[in-house]
This record gives sequence, structure tokens and C-alpha cells, in this order.
Amino acid sequence: MSDRFTTPFGPRATADEILNGVRLRGTRMIVTGGASGIGAETVRALARAGAEVTAAVRDPTAASSLIQASVEENWPGSVRAARLDLADLDSVRAFTQAWDGPVDTLVANAGIMALPTLQRSRQGWEMQLATNYLGHFALALGLQPALRDAGAGRVVVVSSGAHRNHPFDLDDPQFTHTAYDPWVAYGRSKTADILLAVGISQRWAEDGIVANSLMPGWITTNLQRHVDLPTLQAMGGADADGNRIEQPFFKTTAQGAATSALLAASPLVEGVTGRYFEDNQNASLAGEDIDGAVADHAVNPEIAHRLWDYSAAALRS
Ligand SMILES: NC(=O)c1ccc[n+]([C@@H]2O[C@H](COP(=O)([O-])OP(=O)(O)OC[C@H]3O[C@@H](n4cnc5c(N)ncnc54)[C@H](OP(=O)(O)O)[C@@H]3O)[C@@H](O)[C@H]2O)c1
Repeated sequence: MSDRFTTPFGPRATADEILNGVRLRGTRMIVTGGASGIGAETVRALARAGAEVTAAVRDPTAASSLIQASVEENWPGSVRAARLDLADLDSVRAFTQAWDGPVDTLVANAGIMALPTLQRSRQGWEMQLATNYLGHFALALGLQPALRDAGAGRVVVVSSGAHRNHPFDLDDPQFTHTAYDPWVAYGRSKTADILLAVGISQRWAEDGIVANSLMPGWITTNLQRHVDLPTLQAMGGADADGNRIEQPFFKTTAQGAATSALLAASPLVEGVTGRYFEDNQNASLAGEDIDGAVADHAVNPEIAHRLWDYSAAALRS
């Protein structure tokens, strides 16, 4: 990635700052996991810039306060909620079949992290892979016609820096033969997310669809429910006495939603595709300094191709 794409935004820019002056009236966007954390902030920023945003969530009532705020504060856009459980293919199918009309942007944001024990989805897939990746793969596939009909559809996949140490394991993707590890499963699912954007950029360019992925930064949300203090300390998020290191480790949710907002709706990245962003910038390919970079195993076109074939077969089985 020597031709790295750059933007004028620094790591602490907020989603509202990214979308300042951007008019999204007439656009329709979907944000998975849009009722909490980074997803809720992404929904808010997009709707405040004028988009008609659907929060695709397990429990639609969880989006009530966002919907209420959109009405009470008279946002230029709107918010609605629709039911979607990414860990259940029937639910994904029901969502895509019920969808009517074009989709300008799909933000694949929902996720779970480091489930302590091996859990499986309704289809028998390892739960983090099912939720973070395979559910989004099926969702994107089901929405492809709607993204095409938008003319310049965008897919934004929220990944994580946790992808860096964990190549996707095509030999045992579901932890059938190897021992389950919560962080390995998370890291692999986030590698798969980046490869999803690469795969879409390879396959759907003729339909005018672009796809990019991102690391939002570290933001305190429900995602960390399984992170214990020693793990947080090892990551640099707490000192030896257990005090959280707010700066420079953590971002606010408004800052955490910035890169999603950039890729979802900013004219600055029009036509940009197949790339991984961090801190509002296109990350470099990992060399010696892996911090803030993207690992080769996550953007390798051949691996993206093989993962796509595996995933398509998994949906058919
Ligand atoms: N926070 C960070 O520091 C950080 C760092 C790197 C990457 N990320 C990524 O950022 C994304 C957003 O995470 P967050 O930090 O905002 O955490 P969060 O507040 O826990 O949000 C995750 C969302 O995903 C939804 N979700 C979980 N399982 C689902 C399923 N089966 N079907 C549909 N939705 C489901 C959750 O819905 P419920 O409310 O129903 O559980 C929740 O709304 C994730 O992809 C995460 O991996 C976050």
C-alpha cells in the first residue's frame, strides 16, 4: 500500500466533525448494532447529517432513545429500528427479504469480543465468527442488489487492531479440531472482516459498490464485558494499580465513530475501496512497526478469495 490514501483528519476527530458540511438527505443507510456504543454514535452522526438510518439490532426497543432524540432534536435525517440477529441466518434472511429499495451504505458494526467459552450459533458456527463475520457476509450478500441500486453503494466493515496477530485459519475456522481461545477467535473474526471488504471490492466493483474496513480505536463500551484487569493492563489500558489510562489509550464514542462516518458518508473517500483505515487514515501495510498498520494476512487478495468461497459454501450447507 505505497499509494496510501490520506485525509485531513487526526485520530481525535469526532464523527460530527468528519461529517461537518456533508449533506446526506435522500440517502438510506443501515448500521448493525446501531443501538449501543460506536454503532449508536454512528447512527446519530449519520442521521444528524440528513441520512435515513436503520439501526439493525437484536432488540428494536433498544433504539427507542435514539429515535426519540431524532424527533425531539429535529435531526435533518431519521432513525428507525429493524430486528436483526447476526448469529441466526434465518434472521439475516428475514431482514434482507423485508428490505425495500436502495441502500447507500451498510455499516457492518455489530460485534462481540472474547466470549470466555466456546459457544455456537444456531447454524453451529463459532459464535464470534458467526456474529462478527459470517452474519455480516450473509447480510452484505442479501443487500447486494440494494447496494447496486444505490449507484455508488458503500460497505463499511468495523474490524479491530486485534486482527494483527491472527490470520484466518481456513483449516479449522470453527474450532472443530483445535482448542478454543477467546482472543484467537476474536482476532480471526476481525481478520475475516477486513478480508470481507477486500472480497467485496474485488467482486462488486462493476456494480459501483466500494468496501473498506476500519479499526475504531479503544472505546469503553459493552464490548469489554469479558476483559479482565490483567488483560486491560497488558493492552496498556490500565496502570499497575488498576487505574484506567484514559489518554492516550481510550477514545470517546464520538471519536470512535469517526472512521465509520468517514467511510460511510464522506465525499473525501468517494471511490476508495478495499482499504483498511485507522484513526481516520488509510493504514500502512505492517512492516516492522505493526502498531496502527494492517497485517498482510488481512488484505491478501488470494486469502480474501479463498475465505469468500469458504463463506459462500458455509451459507449453503
Ligand atoms: N470498543 C472498542 O474499543 C473497539 C475496539 C476495536 C473494535 N471494536 C469493534 O467495534 C464494533 C462495535 O463495538 P462497540 O465497542 O460499540 O460494542 P457494543 O456497544 O457492545 O456494541 C456491539 C453491538 O453489537 C450488537 N450485537 C452483538 N451480537 C449481535 C447479534 N448476534 N446480532 C446483532 N447485533 C449484535 C450488540 O447488540 P446488543 O446490545 O443486542 O448486545 C451491540 O449493539 C464491534 O465490531 C467491535 O468489534 C470496538
